[in-house]
Amino acid sequence: MRPMNRRQFLGNSLAAAGSAVMGGNAFRPRAQADSGYALQAPDSQIAAARPRHAGVSEFPDGFLWGMATASYQVEGAWNEDGKGESIWDRFTHTVGKVKGGATGDVACDQYHLYPQDIAILKRLNQKSYRFSIAWTRIQPSGTGTPNQKGLDHYSRLVDAILEAGIRPFCTLYHWDLPQALEDRGGWPNRDLANYFADYAGILAKHLGDRITVWAPFNMPWTVAYLGYGVGTFPPGRARYGDFLKAAHTLNLAQGQAFRAIKAASSKATVGSAYGMAPAYPKTSSEADRAAAARYHAMNNVYFLETAMRGRYPNAFVVPTPYKAMGFRPGDEKIMQVPLDWIGFHYYTRRIVSEAKGPSRSGATFGTEIEQDTPGGRDAYTRFHAEMPTQGPLTDAGLEVWPRGMYDLVMQISREYNQPIIEITESGCSYLDTPYEKENGRIPDTRRIEFFRAELTELARAIADGARVRSFHAWSLLDNFEWADGYSQRYGLIYVDYRDQKRTVKDSGLWYGRVAAASRLDV
Ligand code: FCB
Repeated sequence: MRPMNRRQFLGNSLAAAGSAVMGGNAFRPRAQADSGYALQAPDSQIAAARPRHAGVSEFPDGFLWGMATASYQVEGAWNEDGKGESIWDRFTHTVGKVKGGATGDVACDQYHLYPQDIAILKRLNQKSYRFSIAWTRIQPSGTGTPNQKGLDHYSRLVDAILEAGIRPFCTLYHWDLPQALEDRGGWPNRDLANYFADYAGILAKHLGDRITVWAPFNMPWTVAYLGYGVGTFPPGRARYGDFLKAAHTLNLAQGQAFRAIKAASSKATVGSAYGMAPAYPKTSSEADRAAAARYHAMNNVYFLETAMRGRYPNAFVVPTPYKAMGFRPGDEKIMQVPLDWIGFHYYTRRIVSEAKGPSRSGATFGTEIEQDTPGGRDAYTRFHAEMPTQGPLTDAGLEVWPRGMYDLVMQISREYNQPIIEITESGCSYLDTPYEKENGRIPDTRRIEFFRAELTELARAIADGARVRSFHAWSLLDNFEWADGYSQRYGLIYVDYRDQKRTVKDSGLWYGRVAAASRLDV
């Protein structure tokens, strides 16, 4: 039999709807010298920072072009059809928590306007739509009998997505925990792993005949750290011990949800939607390289190593604090589940050094946060992570660093034995608005350049053997950007919040052409 080329390979793998068994030596990433640490210090990689073959980057046939959103950020209808209160409802309804006093009460009103949004996705040739389900619509207080109206809503949504010829990619939890479960202790309470598994089972039972691609959590590190470690997100607690416990429950919940979904739906494939950032050591010193490795362990693979290998990665300068985590014998077996594919987001990079002396970082940009004390982020991991400003900055203040996409994809491919990868998010906030003199078009050229450069790097990773099968632009719509409220605009479609009118930005039109041609010179 003739060996498959990469196009055929990806095509076949998609036809197999994410079947985990995908072999073939032909697709191994190029051998890399293993220096013990993954990425090199910036001084040794500046020459390589520019895309090597900008212009005609092609993507394999069957590559899935998509866009992403999250329930709280777009749905609105915060108390309709029996929906319960979530921790984000409580947070935004508390004065002083969100910029401009903004809430997601209405957001983009996608709860009612989803047919329009799906029509736009179709018009822009999209093949995958990543959305999340609000737990509080399914189980208003987090446990017990499902709310039929909530199930019916998502059932209609999924039908509409499928009718448009688009793959529904479902995230179970994009941060909107039922407030009632926070009242029972929140994620540091390990009972939540069981509740989450029940919820996952309900979804797979009712929607698993049509959804085949499931991600239990969006950015679990952020849930645990921003919510319980530093308190910039709800529920607003700031204790490292709570962070460790919350993270451990999330790991257990991921494993239990994996099993619950598979038990309820034989078609299900389960992966992830982690937030990741390539960590470059500040200098090539051993200490900085070790610090960068700790960052990678803590921020990138803390919920991946547990799933794939049933163990916590070496994120700590102290012995792994099992006791503080609430780890019990046997938990390693609960956590370990062979994810069918690995999904992660890439927005920007970090420069990491060993924590000694004062740090000059301390930046907070939405979900990208670095808050250092002089001794490092914390005494357990003891590193400084900086968000550099060497490249151009987006309007959210994040550095544009396309090369990071290549490095991160290759690193995960290497470390996890060439898994199937889904890029679950990437994008940029630019505040361009409609321009009257040009019939209201939105000439967001910087966003086009952002995606073009980054996708060139993604194409290069694929050419070098990474098995990436999708890319989801964040976001379909301008939407509620968490603690930044509506002050950031990540959409490829502009939303006028006064009348909910959607206008496709120039970047959306461009991305639609890219999706149709599966190449970047369109
Ligand atoms: C990601 C989040 C997403 C959105 C983007 C800008 O980290 O998953 O909800 O806020 O950042």
